[in-house]
Parts: sequence; structure tokens; C-alpha cells
Amino acid sequence: MSIRITRQGPVAILAFDRLDRRNAITAAMYAALADGLLDAQADEGCRVAVITGDPAVFTAGNDLRDFRDNPPAGEDAPVFRFLRAISTFPKPLVAGVCGPAVGVGTTLLLHCDLVYAGDNALLSLPFVNLGLCPEAASSLLLPRLVGHPRAAEKLMLGEPFTAADALAMGLVNEVLPPADVQPRVLSIAAKLAAKPSSSLIQTKRLMKQAIAGPVAAQMIEEGAVFGRMLREPAAREAFTAFMEKRAPDFSRL
Ligand code: COA
Repeated sequence: MSIRITRQGPVAILAFDRLDRRNAITAAMYAALADGLLDAQADEGCRVAVITGDPAVFTAGNDLRDFRDNPPAGEDAPVFRFLRAISTFPKPLVAGVCGPAVGVGTTLLLHCDLVYAGDNALLSLPFVNLGLCPEAASSLLLPRLVGHPRAAEKLMLGEPFTAADALAMGLVNEVLPPADVQPRVLSIAAKLAAKPSSSLIQTKRLMKQAIAGPVAAQMIEEGAVFGRMLREPAAREAFTAFMEKRAPDFSRL
């Protein structure tokens, strides 16, 4: 399954657990993440959720082989179910991110309430370099958060950026040594879990309600474009180049 879901009292912990593939996310893993979040949402005993990876790697993003062979079909594809679940998760959501956080590994952070990063974290949004477009409403949320020029830099050049950059841009709350990230995330989650749950839920809802409709609409449009682009020559070339461990050739595309 490659997603490990555990509970520490009122805290649900969803962890990427596929280190040999750098926690690259398959359709089955998206389904497990979506189900894990929906279970945490429905379970009255769960007051906070945590998303985390390994001290060396958060996630390499979409599993490119799985994406090439089984591109998501329709709005109920596991990846879109996951994006809907995380973007509408009503309870506090805390992330711990260390090492590479590629693609959705970075965009999912835009839907978390508090983000703690290891000083080894390397975030990236390489959609254009893969012949794709942004997802997870990042084309709306990132410019809103960091301004158009910096969002364009991250989304159009697609180069990795450090935890320090992410902190300066307001994408993460704190940067720590990688070994300290998980303990910090769990202690913050426990602190939140001790607060009145209804106050936290209402606070989160009120902070997000003005943007909730536009986020949902943007995700639908991104999803339609992303799904189409996955099947087009630029993405096919980028994915094949990745499998063949060579640079992609977009010169005729
Ligand atoms: N999809 C499928 N397989 C992946 C993957 C992905 N997104 N990311 C890594 N893997 C596989 C590699 O193919 C490699 O397999 P192999 O052992 O059969 O050669 C294995 O995982 C280890 O990856 P490697 O690149 O050797 O690890 P690294 O520690 O040197 O680098 C990354 C880690 C994340 C920086 C690098 O793997 C990477 O850039 N991956 C692609 C990220 C990407 O483009 N994601 C899509 C976002 S939409």
C-alpha cells in the first residue's frame, strides 16, 4: 500500500512509506491518502491529522511510470479524490517535510495549516518541465501567497528551492534539523488536539471560506487540463526520458 496510517490518541498520522521509490505516489497511494483523510474527518475521536514522510525524503511526487501507464480517468480518479479530500479537510492538518518534496509533495503543503520543514527540504514544482500544468489549485494559491513573480519563477522554471526559501516566502512555519521535524510536528499536533475542536474547525473554516469556492473551481479546471496534457507528446517525452534516465528533448514540441 505504501501509505502508513497510524493513530497517536486523537492524532491521525498519514505517512509516505515507499522509500525505494522515493515515496513516489501511485494511484493506490492516492486512494489510501484520500480514504485516510475521509476516515479522520468522519472519526469524532480524531481531532488533528498529520502528513509526513521520511527524514530523507518527503515524496518524489506522482509516480511517473504509474501516471504514464494509468493516467487518471475522470474526476473520481484517486488523485482527484485525494486533492478534494485534503483541500476540504475541516480539522487541523500539520505537515512535516524533509528532503525532496516534488510536485504534489509541495502543492499539498498549500492545503496544510502548519508546515514544519527539515533544513534538508528541497521543494519543487516541475510541472512545466514534465509537459504538464499546475495542480491542487497551486496556480491560484501560490501567486496569492507569494505574489505572481515568485510564483511564476517556481511554476515556470520548476527549479528546486530550499526550506530557507520556503520559510522566507511564507510556505512553511519553521525550519529544523531533519531529526527534529517529526517530534515537533507531533508535539504541535498534540497541542492542537488539546484545544476545543469546534473552535479550531470554525477558525479554519472562516479563514478559508472566501477562497473555498475558487479553489474547488480551479482544481476542476487544472484537473481537466492536466489530464489532457498527460496524454500529449511533451509529457510522453518527459516521462520516457525519466525512465530512460536522459534529458527530455522538447525541441520539436
Ligand atoms: N516516479 C517513479 N519512479 C521514481 C520517481 C517518480 N516520481 N522518483 C524516483 N523514482 C525512482 C527512480 O526511477 C529510481 O528507480 P531505480 O532505482 O529503478 O532507478 C528510484 O526511485 C530512486 O530514485 P533516484 O532518482 O535514484 O533517487 P535520488 O535520491 O537520487 O533523487 C529525486 C530523488 C526525488 C530528486 C528524484 O528521484 C527525482 O527527481 N524524481 C522525479 C521527480 C518528479 O519529476 N516527479 C513528478 C512530479 S509531477
